Amino acid sequence: MLKTSRFFLSAVAAGAALAAAASAQAQDAQVVRIAHVGPTSGGIAHIGKDTENGVRMAIDELNGQGITIGGKKIKFELVAEDDAGDPKQATTVAQKLCDQKVAGIIGHLQSGTTIPASSIYNKCGIPHITTAATNPDLTKPGYNTTYRLIANDNALGAAVAIYAASALKLKTVAVIDDRTAYGQGLAEVFKDEAKKRGMNVVSSEFTTDKATDFMAILTNIKAKKPDAIFFGGLDAQAGPMLRQMEQLGMGQMKYFGGDALCTPKLSELASKAAVVGNVTCATGGISVEKMAGGPDWKKRYDTKFPNQFQIYSPYAYDATMVLADAMKRANSTDPKVYLPQLAKTNYKGLTAQVQFTPKGELTQPAVTLNGYKNQQRTPLN
Ligand code: ALA
Repeated sequence: MLKTSRFFLSAVAAGAALAAAASAQAQDAQVVRIAHVGPTSGGIAHIGKDTENGVRMAIDELNGQGITIGGKKIKFELVAEDDAGDPKQATTVAQKLCDQKVAGIIGHLQSGTTIPASSIYNKCGIPHITTAATNPDLTKPGYNTTYRLIANDNALGAAVAIYAASALKLKTVAVIDDRTAYGQGLAEVFKDEAKKRGMNVVSSEFTTDKATDFMAILTNIKAKKPDAIFFGGLDAQAGPMLRQMEQLGMGQMKYFGGDALCTPKLSELASKAAVVGNVTCATGGISVEKMAGGPDWKKRYDTKFPNQFQIYSPYAYDATMVLADAMKRANSTDPKVYLPQLAKTNYKGLTAQVQFTPKGELTQPAVTLNGYKNQQRTPLN
């Protein structure tokens, strides 16, 4: 009896000591805040949520690794912000993140929000990595705080134009854009390359990133009988546009676009119109199916976030890892100290071997062309 209670007492004491040690360690852990900003409300909230999920997944995994930086155990925390896809809200959020002195930012998602936010991050010296904004102008100022983890629209627009002109041998195309920094810029790149390759642009039409009725635009285009339509814009517009093409009897026309319409959700947004089968769209980077470790990663993602995968969560995941890697090499989570290391990144990620040019672009960006087979987005290369 005496023996048992002695054993019991020493077990309790050992347990208490362990709990005290764990709590001391938890108190010692330095909290490092990494922000994600994208449109997590509004018409393309599903794309914003997808990238946010990628950051969340990376943070959970980093915390599971028990990382020590500067002699302190690090606990990463996500600061999740919504810019609603609105350039003005994006700058307000950017200033807030500067004031909060977060350690780094993944975002924003659209070119129209990322470009104005980038100068604010540059002024306060906090790096941001976008995993979705593709307008080439983003990196032109050469800010040491701006990085992009995917190909830009020079590559995406050209890839689609080459496919239309050289692979499909199409002759005529109508171009529509949503007048955003992304849609307009991408449409210009597409037009230039398509013309160089002998295609005739029979019509240039404009809409907005809020519109859902394209009947008038499509009726104008129908009269010109082009082989194809190129749309510079988001899936929230492309979906209804495709449905309306079918209603107008334009189901034989090919349909091209860039990454922001190239989502699994496009089919649902188009009410599964048969014309979805005519879509070819370009995304930056290689598809998750083709990444070494991609299918395993996707399984983990789908378990954590069922039915939410869209486009760029693997890139948002890698971007978070790239920030943590720079902090580790600098042995500091202070942006001033780790920024030079971020520029020197040579990180073997899920999506690629990540290295940046002096302007913050990837040294070897890849592009994937996608089609829709039986309403499922399917990589073509
Ligand atoms: N690539 C899209 C943009 O730049 C999402 O806005």
